[in-house]
Amino acid sequence: MWTGPSPKLSREELHALADLFAQACGFVLREDLAFVAERRLAVRLEVLGLGDFKAYTRYLKHDPKGREELDHAIELVMPHETYFFREPAQLEALEHELFEALVEKNQRQRRLKLWSAGCATGEEPYTLAMLLVGSRRFVGWELDVLGTDLSTKSLVTARHAEYGPSALRATSSAQLAKYFELAPSGRHRVRTEFREVVRFGHVNLLDRDALGTLEGQDVICCRNVLIYFDVETRRRVIDAFYDCLTPGGYLLLGHSENLLSLSTRFELVHLEGDLVYRRPGST
Ligand SMILES: C[S@@+](CC[C@H](N)C(=O)[O-])C[C@H]1O[C@@H](n2cnc3c(N)ncnc32)[C@H](O)[C@@H]1O
Repeated sequence: MWTGPSPKLSREELHALADLFAQACGFVLREDLAFVAERRLAVRLEVLGLGDFKAYTRYLKHDPKGREELDHAIELVMPHETYFFREPAQLEALEHELFEALVEKNQRQRRLKLWSAGCATGEEPYTLAMLLVGSRRFVGWELDVLGTDLSTKSLVTARHAEYGPSALRATSSAQLAKYFELAPSGRHRVRTEFREVVRFGHVNLLDRDALGTLEGQDVICCRNVLIYFDVETRRRVIDAFYDCLTPGGYLLLGHSENLLSLSTRFELVHLEGDLVYRRPGST
């Protein structure tokens, strides 16, 4: 086992790591994340008995277990920050303006599919389920809320559906009482009626084949994910989202994200409280 001083990540090594990350999942490991990467990956170097980051990148590239280790490294460095009822203005627009449009759009099939792409530990898809079911506009409808992420560790937490104070920091006491129950662990568990419309899956947004199986979505919510990609990857992912949406379906991005210089295929819809994108046409 390596017992020397904590290894330093040079600029050159950071760039080598960044290339591997970008190829695997589109994540741009920027220079301002160098310290985070150095600190979090030091543990992996220790476990693997490697003395420096040059040896680590060699391991990632050439060892038979390198690909598995790369997933591990991405998991450790990628931000998975999320919480319930994040970006409330957009959620209010969804509840008060888009739900009505969706009832109209799908009233014949009485079926609705929503996809939270890059859902981390599940707070976003559960929030969508809470608003949908809680609105009582879709009683008797078939509801399918899908949460997907690259991080298998986050998906384990998502399926467990129990949360602590950090995940609930923007949840009011009325929302807490309506949507959660107290679990024996002392944490808050999402109530069954909201859990049962949500399912989770492991999907890399760069995997076009996997995305091809997710067509027919009425709403895609991809918030605070594209910011980590370079422009070319954003374009690819947005293009795939277009194909996954039904005509007339909506794309919701994070408040710091937009489609400027990424796509002209979507319509911009001005709601009272927010801006969302829509695939033109009607079903
Ligand atoms: C900051 S979290 C955003 C969570 C949630 N959407 C929100 O806004 O609260 C970003 C998530 O995107 C996921 N992610 C990043 N690149 C991905 C990719 N190529 N495929 C799937 N998920 C990815 C990460 O694993 C992480 O959990």
